[in-house]
Amino acid sequence: MVDLSVCLGDIRMANPVMTASGTCGYAFELNDFVDVSALGGFITKSITLEERAGNPPQRTFETAAGMINAIGLANVGLERFCSEKVPLLDRMEIPVIVNVAGKGVDDYVAVSRRVAGLDCVAGLELNASCPNVKEGGITFGTDPCAISELVSAVRKACPETYLIVKLTPNVTDIAQMARAAVDAGADCLSLINTFVGLAIDVETRRPVLGNRTGGVSGPAIKPMAVYMVNRVYEAVGKPLGVPIIALGGIATANDALEFILAGASAVCVGTQMMIDPNCAMVIISGIEDYCRRHEVASVMELVGALE
Ligand SMILES: Cc1cc2nc3c(=O)[nH]c(=O)nc-3n(C[C@H](O)[C@H](O)[C@H](O)COP(=O)(O)O)c2cc1C
Repeated sequence: MVDLSVCLGDIRMANPVMTASGTCGYAFELNDFVDVSALGGFITKSITLEERAGNPPQRTFETAAGMINAIGLANVGLERFCSEKVPLLDRMEIPVIVNVAGKGVDDYVAVSRRVAGLDCVAGLELNASCPNVKEGGITFGTDPCAISELVSAVRKACPETYLIVKLTPNVTDIAQMARAAVDAGADCLSLINTFVGLAIDVETRRPVLGNRTGGVSGPAIKPMAVYMVNRVYEAVGKPLGVPIIALGGIATANDALEFILAGASAVCVGTQMMIDPNCAMVIISGIEDYCRRHEVASVMELVGALE
């Protein structure tokens, strides 16, 4: 019998497979397609203080081996999240992690403080890939000082909450950002968010996306994501005992296993859920099969087992 369970701090998950923020709404949208309770955990769409309509269309476009999106953090906002979505999330039998985003540190703190107090919430994931408007448009996650300020402020506001910081790959050295997040109080790191990209319609000579640029996701980004997870694991995760949630192009059990061997304690499936909502279930059983074939008693034995 294979033990697929993993722990992120006090959060115990029956298996290491979750869904990626922004790709599966607020969970109940998945109910018609898949048994959500069989997932290891669920991560919500980014929640911001105010409701956001998001970017003008076109907001998504299929690329070779993936997609590019510029949704623009469209979401119902904190108040509607609490009144409309939380009663449904309350019924979930698996750990729920709420992804938090904002225009400035104060926004993140306000949303985190409110959400962290909800019974159904096992932890927070700070989306550190948003532009910090007050600081002039740089992205929190691309500046170690900005990420440090953000994480310290949320940590201070929510001292007991399990805090995951989601890192952007759009940096020279992601390990430097990981270190800054952990030093400021992150319990766990998740990586990666999307790569900035541009798709052009050659007939009109205009960008395909209404926002001009977007974030590239899907199988095309997987090798870079695996490298970054391993880099962060070796430089920060392993020496400091900080778990990593990995994502970026996972479509099969082998993809998930690559990330686990690279150092991830859990994984998320994003873009592939839009192609096959059942893929998470196939990935879970594929990981179990692998463990059985390789006589691995617990999936945790594989974390960072890359030679
Ligand atoms: C349509 C779409 C919407 C997304 N929205 C969010 C979001 O609201 N917050 C966030 O932190 N990441 C968001 N992401 C990024 C994903 O969570 C994930 O980090 C990224 O897509 C890489 O994983 P994948 O290749 O498996 O999709 C979004 C990705 C996609 C494709």
